[in-house]
Amino acid sequence: MDEPSPKPILEIRNITKNFGGLTALNDVSFDLHPGEILGVIGPNGAGKTTLFDVITGRYRPSGGKVFHKGEDITGLKPHQIVQKGISRSFQLEVLFKNLSVFKHLVMSRHLHTQVGFWGSFFRTPGNRKEEEATEAEALELMRFVGLEVQGDRLGGNLSHGYQKSLGIAMALGPAPEILLLDEPLSALSPKRVTDILDLIRAIRDKGVTVMVIEHNMGALFRICDRVVVLSVGEKIAEGLPEEIKHNQRVIEAYLGGAVRA
Ligand SMILES: Nc1ncnc2c1ncn2[C@@H]1O[C@H](COP(=O)(O)OP(=O)(O)OP(=O)(O)O)[C@@H](O)[C@H]1O
Ligand SMILES: [Mg+2]
Repeated sequence: MDEPSPKPILEIRNITKNFGGLTALNDVSFDLHPGEILGVIGPNGAGKTTLFDVITGRYRPSGGKVFHKGEDITGLKPHQIVQKGISRSFQLEVLFKNLSVFKHLVMSRHLHTQVGFWGSFFRTPGNRKEEEATEAEALELMRFVGLEVQGDRLGGNLSHGYQKSLGIAMALGPAPEILLLDEPLSALSPKRVTDILDLIRAIRDKGVTVMVIEHNMGALFRICDRVVVLSVGEKIAEGLPEEIKHNQRVIEAYLGGAVRA
């Protein structure tokens, strides 16, 4: 690329995370550029989910910093990170068994609106209007991710594929600028994989910057602009999908079944 890179929207700087004696992340640094889809790969236990946990405020890093548009956001609480416009989905989506798809989405929208979660229980005239807007947006989200027919289904009755779509939709609820997806394709049929890849592209085309953790590299490489590779807590490579496919260290990490010392 000849064009100068735009200013990063997120800077991961020397992030280390220890759990007791285990180093889940060791001095990891890279940038996320606005508008890109960045893939994050690596063998099981590489530290990928921990990286998302650190960025989104679930864990405070043992060392290093995260900058959002130049501002140090290290150690902020998860809700403060959401307010900065950074949202995530989870590797294993936790849904409410007895709550409908629609209600899940209304709830996730409340993370974004002025009404707030408690305000929605007291339907005063002031916030009734806002509530209607939230419901309209929840419907729109349902359509956007292909769940429009599933609106009344309860969380506990959803197929795995629809659970994954709902997880992405809930992460979109707060209208993020940066979306972090943790294994959005896991255990999906080939048809559903294609649907979710299309959805991720559509999300990016709406101006959202996306970071995707995924084990399905063949699928991931169809949509991502760049790739960061973690292995045993360390960043071992970063580059274009074509480069990463042929990177010797990456091949060895996968074939050799990288293990912790
Ligand atoms: N809360 C925790 N307490 C102790 N160890 C943890 C904790 N969370 C993660 N780990 C350990 O940190 C390492 C990295 O885990 P992480 O979940 O980030 O890996 P991953 O790359 O997401 O793996 P996978 O592809 O299997 O999801 C693993 O050895 C894991 O057991
Ligand atoms: Mg993980």
